[in-house]
Amino acid sequence: MPIIAPSILAANFLQLQQTCAMLNESKADWFHLDIMDGRFVPNISFGIPVVNAIKKATSKILDVHLMIVEPEKYIDDFKKAGADSITVHVEACPHLHRNIQQIKDAGLKAGVALNPHTPICMLENILSDIDMVLIMSVNPGFGGQSFIPNSLHKIKELRKLLNKVAPEVLIEVDGGITLKNAAAVIQSGANVLVAGSAIFNTQHPDATIEQFKMVV
Ligand code: DX5
Ligand code: ZN
Repeated sequence: MPIIAPSILAANFLQLQQTCAMLNESKADWFHLDIMDGRFVPNISFGIPVVNAIKKATSKILDVHLMIVEPEKYIDDFKKAGADSITVHVEACPHLHRNIQQIKDAGLKAGVALNPHTPICMLENILSDIDMVLIMSVNPGFGGQSFIPNSLHKIKELRKLLNKVAPEVLIEVDGGITLKNAAAVIQSGANVLVAGSAIFNTQHPDATIEQFKMVV
């Protein structure tokens, strides 16, 4: 069964408490929290106080996706706010290995995200140091975009490589995931599906999450 990580970015921010309560009762595994700084990506989302508030409303895993430059400045703050895993972008990290060590030294799971144009080979020398790779299947910065089909090739290529060198590393896929394309994403080798609009823009998000859990 895939791990399902609803992206809070698509939720109604005026009703975060009800959203957390709904997700707590649902089959969602993780909360996916998109942090955008208006520099690495052309959009600003929410920050540390919101992560802190959500932490108080759930005991599920907080999967923090940092779309920010200089993430090293904020790892400790996000840990204190309640992050369980932190994913940084390879494109934002000239000292990626150091960033990963910092996340792990903080006692958190470490993920690395790849933009659609960034090849898998960028990760070759750090695969055994990380817990998860996040394949971006849209250009980061906004919810509600369409899935980039080439992402499936990347997932397959990565799964093949991981099977050889670090099979326990999870593949998370983020952007444009729907109930229509989820099966292809899973069959290509992904373990974690992030979905924002495909969950929150439905009448019964909890029922939609249940449908995502059934995808094989
Ligand atoms: C995009 C974010 C995604 C986004 C996904 O930059 O990283 O997590 O919220 O939203 P959907 O599922 O609507 O594409
Ligand atoms: Zn994300």
